[in-house]
Amino acid sequence: MILGIPKEIIENETRVAAIPATVKQYISAGFTVKVEQNAGALSQISDSDYKDVGAEIISSAKEVFSGSDMILKVNSPTIDELKMIKDNSSYISFFQTMKEIDKVKILQSKNVTSYSMHLIPRTTLAQKMDALSSQTNIAGYKAVLLGACHIEKYMPLLMTAAGTIPPAKVLVLGAGVAGLSAIATAKRLGAQVEASDVRPEVKEQVESLGAKFLEVKSDSDDGVGEGGYAKETSDDYKKKQADLLNERIAISDIVITTALIPGRPAPILITDEMVKSMNPGSVIMDLAAENGGNCSLTNPDKIINHDGVIIDGTINLAGTMSVHSSQLFAKNVSAFILHAYDKDKNKFNLDDEIVSGSMFTHNGQIVDERTKNTIEGAS
Ligand code: NAI
Repeated sequence: MILGIPKEIIENETRVAAIPATVKQYISAGFTVKVEQNAGALSQISDSDYKDVGAEIISSAKEVFSGSDMILKVNSPTIDELKMIKDNSSYISFFQTMKEIDKVKILQSKNVTSYSMHLIPRTTLAQKMDALSSQTNIAGYKAVLLGACHIEKYMPLLMTAAGTIPPAKVLVLGAGVAGLSAIATAKRLGAQVEASDVRPEVKEQVESLGAKFLEVKSDSDDGVGEGGYAKETSDDYKKKQADLLNERIAISDIVITTALIPGRPAPILITDEMVKSMNPGSVIMDLAAENGGNCSLTNPDKIINHDGVIIDGTINLAGTMSVHSSQLFAKNVSAFILHAYDKDKNKFNLDDEIVSGSMFTHNGQIVDERTKNTIEGAS
């Protein structure tokens, strides 16, 4: 089976879906690996690094797409890339299947067996394949570093001969993978950190990192969805949350927002009014920008200055740390492929629950229920 690794072509993408260490694993497992020329350049991996472990370097993207049995990518394909994918082949990358309906239909029509890294089940066994976590962990870390560079202040408490400087105040909204990574990073830099989340079980995790948990007092388990995820909150909850956060946002130097609800636009937690209440020079790092943002003023993939408050909606924060984001992403993908591949039969074990759970098109059908329902609902 031939695995193809194209160069990522969307703007600001620096990552690559395979690194020499994973190419080596694929080759030992019996695969042939074709890597597009310069595919790893922005992750500091040269063509000769890939060649040294046995990959073939291919000069044209078309040849990689049309000459491979399975394409491994970071981002979902562009329409031009989709056209080049070989009929009846396999495909894997991040892919928001409920948003990118037209692309799903093209893969279906080409009889491609497609897998999305977004759909990998969040089970203990699949943890090493969980690219959402590996990449958002990086985003949470980097958001703090960028936030610290935006504010014209120190992060830690500093006692100097010229006076005492208090620690920066960091508020993290949404304490999932990205939020917890941000909390840990801000604490390491010496900031005073508070965090809030709709899921009450997060309190213990936030406190174990040394931050204060801001709890919205609610009568029921409002906002707690299925499988450990959040769901949309009631209007009553939203009001209580806004009352609690109003004052905390106004005094924060850096607010990092990461709140997401599966399959829904990101909830607005910071309104125009709240931004107005913040001190000039303070910063909002909106990690939910790609899904609409948690701040009403966020401009996806732009950094804006709104009356002195910096609102940073940079989307691909993981891509700003390409060496480690590629390393972790590539390992996530190889863990999936080597788990799925049955060497004796030279095919994927489609009955495996991680494999079938991540698959969205197969045999000319859309096989992921939520994707299928979304597409049927839209037509
Ligand atoms: P996410 O990226 O979907 O959302 C980020 C955070 O925002 C969540 O903690 C969510 O509760 C919070 N949120 C949503 N709406 C909010 C609102 N209105 N106000 C405040 N906060 C709000 O979440 P993530 O990081 O993907 O984690 C979700 C779940 O997945 C967690 O239960 C986590 O433990 C679990 N998980 C399991 C893994 C595994 O078993 N392999 C790996 C990673 C996460």
